[in-house]
Amino acid sequence: MTQTNSSNQNSYDRNRRFVGCGAIVTGAGSGIGRETTLAFAQEGANVYSTDINAETLAETAEMGAGLPGAIHTGVHDVSSRASCFEAVAAAQDALGSFNILCNIAGISWAEHAVNVTEEMWDKMIGINLSGVFWMSQAALPHLLEQAGGAPDESRDELPELGSGGQGGFDIAPSPSIVNISSTAGIMGQAYTVPYCATKGGVALMTKSFAMEFAKTNLRVNAVAPGGVDTSLSQNFHMPADVDFELIQRFMGFRGMSHPRAMANAVLFLASAEANRLNGTILSVDAGMTAG
Ligand SMILES: NC(=O)c1ccc[n+]([C@@H]2O[C@H](COP(=O)([O-])OP(=O)(O)OC[C@H]3O[C@@H](n4cnc5c(N)ncnc54)[C@H](O)[C@@H]3O)[C@@H](O)[C@H]2O)c1
Repeated sequence: MTQTNSSNQNSYDRNRRFVGCGAIVTGAGSGIGRETTLAFAQEGANVYSTDINAETLAETAEMGAGLPGAIHTGVHDVSSRASCFEAVAAAQDALGSFNILCNIAGISWAEHAVNVTEEMWDKMIGINLSGVFWMSQAALPHLLEQAGGAPDESRDELPELGSGGQGGFDIAPSPSIVNISSTAGIMGQAYTVPYCATKGGVALMTKSFAMEFAKTNLRVNAVAPGGVDTSLSQNFHMPADVDFELIQRFMGFRGMSHPRAMANAVLFLASAEANRLNGTILSVDAGMTAG
């Protein structure tokens, strides 16, 4: 989908960066996925929001009623390749076209590595890692069609507030995938080996996709959140008998972020302002991974 600026040549509006865009958001029933859905719709994008939880997904759509962008919903399980392809086909039907995919659905738990069962491992890998790959694989043909060939030189000409489209600025976001990794995908965390494996995998998957399509206009980036106040973190419990010295770097004085802080980062990466960002893992962790 090429965002046309013909009616909007003189105003790059930072509050309406996604008018004319279509976005798919997974994990939209809660937390970061819900905030991302609402933020896109607030800025004019039409959104296809998906989650495995029909009830919370419906709540998200209700919260977004009346926003400038429409929110369509569909229940899908990202751990199933077939379900991911169905989700993308349904999104294309609902939106007509889309130029943004946000892979946000995920689960997390902590356990001693020796106690992790095959079922636990497979579920974590299926949702957090395979889900990102299958959704991306399903969406790629359409995203590449939208990307339409080699990177445009106008990528270097970033939108300037106040100047809008004048002077040939490209104010349309180039098509992109935005994934959610984690601080746990950047540094090792005790008692969460499967989770770290998936989030480290998402970080490298992001860079590998970026490399594979580097000669096109498609961009693939990720946000790596620190602690975010969502149902995931509220229900996250370390086993009772852990060595707290080992997990100190993940605890402490940085507090929890509001999920809107992550949505802001997702929208930035998807926006025209980030048209030169590809393969970036953007840490939004109040400095946790700084050292
Ligand atoms: N909350 C944090 O502190 C934190 C930190 C770093 C990274 N993350 C990552 O952010 C992402 C979003 O997490 P959140 O904190 O918003 O959690 P959340 O629990 O609030 O939301 C996750 C959503 O994913 C959905 N989901 C789970 N399994 C699914 C499946 N098989 N198919 C489709 N949807 C499914 C859930 O129903 C839920 O609505 C996750 O990938 C998580 O790993 C979260």
